[in-house]
This record gives sequence, structure tokens and C-alpha cells, in this order.
Amino acid sequence: MRLPLLDQYPTLSMFEARAREIVPPDALAYATGGAASEATLDRNRWALQHLAIEQRVLMGVKTIDTTTSFLGLTLPTPIIVSPMGGMYRFHPEGDVEMARGATRDGGLSVVAGGAPGLDKVAAAASGPLIFQLYWLGDREWVADKLRTVHAAGFKAFCLTVDAAAYSRRERDILLNMPLRRAAAALPDTQSSLTWDDVDWVKAQIPLPFGLKGIMTAQDAELALDHRVDFLWVSNHGGRQLDDGRATIDALTEIADVVNGRVPLVVDSGFRRGTDAIKALALGATLVAFGRTALWGLAVGGADGVQSVLRLLNEELVINMKLAGQRSTSLLSPRVIRRIDGSGFAINVPVSQRTSPEGSLMSQLSASQRAAVQQISDDAGLSEIDKMWSITEAVLGAAPSAPAPTDRTSE
Ligand SMILES: Cc1cc2nc3c(=O)[nH]c(=O)nc-3n(C[C@H](O)[C@H](O)[C@H](O)COP(=O)(O)O)c2cc1C
Repeated sequence: MRLPLLDQYPTLSMFEARAREIVPPDALAYATGGAASEATLDRNRWALQHLAIEQRVLMGVKTIDTTTSFLGLTLPTPIIVSPMGGMYRFHPEGDVEMARGATRDGGLSVVAGGAPGLDKVAAAASGPLIFQLYWLGDREWVADKLRTVHAAGFKAFCLTVDAAAYSRRERDILLNMPLRRAAAALPDTQSSLTWDDVDWVKAQIPLPFGLKGIMTAQDAELALDHRVDFLWVSNHGGRQLDDGRATIDALTEIADVVNGRVPLVVDSGFRRGTDAIKALALGATLVAFGRTALWGLAVGGADGVQSVLRLLNEELVINMKLAGQRSTSLLSPRVIRRIDGSGFAINVPVSQRTSPEGSLMSQLSASQRAAVQQISDDAGLSEIDKMWSITEAVLGAAPSAPAPTDRTSE
């Protein structure tokens, strides 16, 4: 379906420029700003700008496959929209229009915890919905909220965990922003959360559960110990911890430790289809866009969101072709090079994670791989037995002890 809005605003920068003209100054400050010095906000972009995509040619790239599997869902693209609160400041029907626009071309929508009228939002969406939870009450309050989420037909939920305090966003403070005053008045329940609460919240409804705001390999490991179903690598678009790391940087080490055990979503600072390629190559399953989608919402409601997503996806496909890459799910870290201050590629891998071609598994024959897989899946074997059986399957029979020296024959 053709979108007339794209005739008027054929580029992403035109959407942003128009949104900056029509959004009231305080809402614009709320959307664009970051925490305190805005170092994290800037670093998200800085780090992405210091990665380059390798250009391979003559790779037969007529068709690009962007199909993505996530928690059992099949999505047409790995590009989604991040959950954002306060959407009524950008469109009178903000949350409803956002969900409608995000799902129109078959994508999913992540609904912000503060969105009023979950049923109305769910009714507007034509694709799967994920709920983003802020813990803003006692356990009964949370359980109640989650029952509503479950009843409304959501497919998964995530708890945002990077909000142990509400940061000092100086642009909002300068304008005495009402949304900031409202946030400051909320109960301080999130600062006391621990991993016990993760276990508890996960058990409340039978839906896949993730954590949003994971930024270190240590926390990713802990999250896996607590059996979360997905991780969302995020620094809240640079809006929470000041002077934190860029998410593309954290993604690299998190993907190393997670090693494909759960899907990774990433956001914060992603603005272009090429940014999505970088994140996918470094281990993300889905790449989420916050403010970029917000500009679409402000300019044209659901049509604007859909238009912006179309532009991002078009950029994704065009640049996949130009990079000689056929499938977004097969991108590997080898596609990405780090760039030094002079603009030259540095001969240092961006990730310690071995690419699929370089991994141990890929050095095995097909029958060895099948044997390893079978042993790993065997629930009847202990971890030690599995290790020995895999060693045997890969190296052949375990080396026998050296024959005792026959002293008499010396
Ligand atoms: C206006 C605005 C409101 C947001 N509200 C929420 C929220 O309610 N819950 C949440 O988990 N993250 C929220 N975020 C963070 C986003 O989910 C996301 O992590 C971030 O916007 C991604 O960065 P980007 O805007 O640079 O793409 C908000 C971000 C913005 C810009």
C-alpha cells in the first residue's frame, strides 16, 4: 500500500524536522533530552558512527530476507518501535496510533507501561503486542496489572530495570516540565527491586518475559540464571544513567556471553537502517527505534509511524544489498569494522564472539555436529557425562592410557 505521507516527507530527516516544528517546546525537550550531561545520549551515536559496514560485491543479492523469529513469532522485519510513555503529548491518541502504525505492515508493538486503556490499544493493533512494565506499586498492584495484560491478549512482557531512580534531565528541569513533576510524584518502588522480584514477576502470568535495560555481561548472565526469555539491551535512549556506555558497545559483550541462548533486543541511538545492520551483525535479534518513530507519530499519527518504519526498512534492504548480504538473520560480526579517529578501519575485531564460520561447531563434520546436538539434548545425561560424550564424539575414542613400559625388554 502506498503511503501519501511519504510523498510529502520522503526522508527520515524531513519527519524529524517537521516534528520539531509542530511539537510544543516542553514536549520536544522531553523527547530529545538525555540524562544530565547527556554523555550517554551522545555516546550512543558516537559508538555507532565508529563502526563501518564491509562492502562485499557480486553476491547475488536480488532478494533480501529480513524475516525474523522472535519468541515463536515470525516477523517480516527485525525493526520495531521502543515503548515510550507520554505519547499523548505528541498525538491526542498517542498510544493507540503508535500501536496501529507499528503493526500495520506486520510488525509487533511494544506498549509502554503507562499507556492508558490497554484494551483500546490492543484493539487498534493488527499484530502481536508486548507489554513494558514499570513496577509502580506493591506486588498486588503489579499482579493486577499483569492480569489485565494477559487478558488483553499480549504475547510477552518485559520489566524495565534501568529506572532505579528518575534521572535529572536538565532540559525538562529548565522548562519545569509537568511530565517530570508527575514522574517525580510516583511511588519510589523501583529502587528496591532485586533478582527475587524478577523470579516473582516472571511467575505471575504464563507469557515469555524479558528485562529491558541490561547493559553488562554480568547482568546478562544473572538474567539467564533467572531464566528470562529475552533481554533488551538499552540505556533508555541515554535518558537514565549519565555517562554510561553506548548500547552497541554493551551489545557486543552481552551477545558474547548469551551466545544465542535467548534473543536480544537492542535500542538507544539507532537512527538509520544501517544502524540496524550493525546491531544485527553484532548479535541483536530485533533493533528498536524510539525517537525516530516518535517523529512519525507527531507528524502523522499511525500513518507517520508506518511511513517512518517503511523508510527504515527500505534503508535496511538497500544497504544489505550494497553490503552483499542476503539475510538479516545471517549477519555476523565479520560484516562490521571499527573505525579510528582518522576514519581508517582498525584491525581489531569488534567482538570476541566467533562468527558462525569460525565457531568450533562449524569446524565439525555434519555427522559430528548431529552427534553433539543429540548429546546436548539428552536430558538423561549429567553435564559431566555430556562433556565426556561430546569429547569422544569429536575426538574419537578417548585416548587410552600409555602402555606400561616392559622393563624386562629394555
Ligand atoms: C519520550 C520517551 C519516552 C519513553 N518512555 C519509556 C517508557 O515509558 N518505558 C521504557 O521502558 N522506556 C521508555 N523510553 C525509552 C525507550 O523505550 C527506548 O529505550 C529509547 O527511546 C531508545 O532510544 P532512541 O530514542 O534513541 O531510539 C522512552 C523514550 C522516550 C524518547
